Amino acid sequence: MHLYDSMKKPVIFGHRGASRYAPENTMAAFELAIKQGARAFELDTMLTSDGIPVVIHDHTLDRTTNGTGSVNQKKYDEIQELDAGGKFSQDFRGEKVPSLVDVLKRYPQEILINIELKNYHSPKDELTRIVLEMVESLQMLDRVIFSSFLPRNLRILRKMQPKAKTALLISGGVPGYLLSTALLRSLSPEIVHPPLDVVDHRLVRQEHKNGRCVNVWTVNDPQSARKLIDWGVDGLITDDPLGILELLGQ
Ligand code: G3P
Ligand code: MG
Repeated sequence: MHLYDSMKKPVIFGHRGASRYAPENTMAAFELAIKQGARAFELDTMLTSDGIPVVIHDHTLDRTTNGTGSVNQKKYDEIQELDAGGKFSQDFRGEKVPSLVDVLKRYPQEILINIELKNYHSPKDELTRIVLEMVESLQMLDRVIFSSFLPRNLRILRKMQPKAKTALLISGGVPGYLLSTALLRSLSPEIVHPPLDVVDHRLVRQEHKNGRCVNVWTVNDPQSARKLIDWGVDGLITDDPLGILELLGQ
């Protein structure tokens, strides 16, 4: 059984780790999310120029590191030289841009990891295949959710490995949601990841009726969290796992 299916709902995912308190997508942020009590976290991944999946959100290095330029035009070794913590706070200087394999290997059995495939600037690259093969070789298929805004990524995953747990990420407001959900259901048959602003009680009821779980992003304020919990959503993807877990009394 997949870990997600056996977890108490709602599952609280640290979005890019506990990214309110530590630099996003770093080991420090993932460690902190777990320390705060989260049993799941989300991360973003893309390829370096030498084909290594690294964990970073933006297509360029500029916002979160002391480097510049596109991630997919730099070698892994060059990216390892960079600091990914100091821009967030001097307390985190020395944090690296982690490789995906290092993050996956760090976490024991009971942690669920949502890998967002973020090859949005190079949609035809090999990211999906490389990440799937990595997860399979680490025997982690039963505790990874693969998500992406790119239907192609999910199509490849499902074709290569029908057991992969996939979740379509949806943006573009309510019309975008309705269109994607109707046309692309087969790529994301068990879970869907809509943004907070398109979710209402009706949508949650409808998805549940159709047998799909709903994990909502990015839910940071307690009022929204409370409302979503009352509607019975299955997962909250939050920068602030501590705050949301406190709200839940966990
Ligand atoms: O996976 C949910 C969320 O992370 C999608 O958007 O831009 O924060 O990666 P973004
Ligand atoms: Mg993401």
